[in-house]
Amino acid sequence: MADSFDGQVALITGAAKGLGQAFARRLAAAGFEVVGCDIDPAIDELEGSAFRADVSKPEDVRRVVDAALEEHGRIDLLINNAGIARGSQAGQDWELGLRDYEEMVGTNFFGAFLFGRAVAPTMIEQRAGNIVNVSTDHIYPTPGLRVQGHGGMDLYNASKWALNGLTLDWAASLGPHGIRVNGLCLGATDTPMLRDIAVGAPEEVIATWIQPDDVCGLLLELLSEGPKGRSGHNLGCWVGRPLSLEDSIEVGHRR
Ligand SMILES: NC(=O)c1ccc[n+]([C@@H]2O[C@H](COP(=O)([O-])OP(=O)(O)OC[C@H]3O[C@@H](n4cnc5c(N)ncnc54)[C@H](O)[C@@H]3O)[C@@H](O)[C@H]2O)c1
Repeated sequence: MADSFDGQVALITGAAKGLGQAFARRLAAAGFEVVGCDIDPAIDELEGSAFRADVSKPEDVRRVVDAALEEHGRIDLLINNAGIARGSQAGQDWELGLRDYEEMVGTNFFGAFLFGRAVAPTMIEQRAGNIVNVSTDHIYPTPGLRVQGHGGMDLYNASKWALNGLTLDWAASLGPHGIRVNGLCLGATDTPMLRDIAVGAPEEVIATWIQPDDVCGLLLELLSEGPKGRSGHNLGCWVGRPLSLEDSIEVGHRR
């Protein structure tokens, strides 16, 4: 078990608000040096190294990773967190579908792919590292439910399926280099994203949502397992169930 993260460097995408902001604050408190990026100018308020960057643009990704390496010399943790969610469906307008594809798959999947590709060579050289991909419970429904019931989000769901696939494949290919790769497949979590989607949700429903701080707790538990910890796990994080490794259910894990 690793109990101190002092001097380790974490790169978090989408760190201006929501979960990414919570990860940044909690990891900094745990001793990490934090590097964050976002398209939202509010990223400038991050305590740590902040970059305005679009994860779907290869040149932005290279700029962030190169600058992080120049400043810190290493990257111990990559959290592919930046994401966008909106409805989309097979019958929709052609042009709208193309725009949604570019934006949603570009951010949720291509962005994670780019950061993984940009960071992996450094982690391989270090012979150590962690990659955490932030995904959704739309794919791993709450135990007891047959489906989570999110028809009408084909591109969001497919982008996260693809992301979960990266988690499994990278875990296998990077494992021999001492790099762990896991996914957090979250249910409804109280962030600006969900507040925007669920405008008008009753207070009693909002009260059930997962708190970003609880997800941070699970993340730290995962990291604390150290180099021999689990890898290739897409962890289900469900509303109404405890968020801890002991209570988590993994689907499709490698080891
Ligand atoms: N909130 C939930 O209920 C929930 C559930 C499951 C999964 N997730 C996932 O959690 C992650 C974080 O979501 P959140 O709820 O904190 O959302 P959020 O909208 O509150 O925060 C997301 C952040 O990502 C940034 N971002 C968006 N597109 C970007 C891009 N192209 N480049 C750089 N930054 C970009 C946004 O500006 C924002 O700061 C996402 O991947 C999301 O799909 C959220």
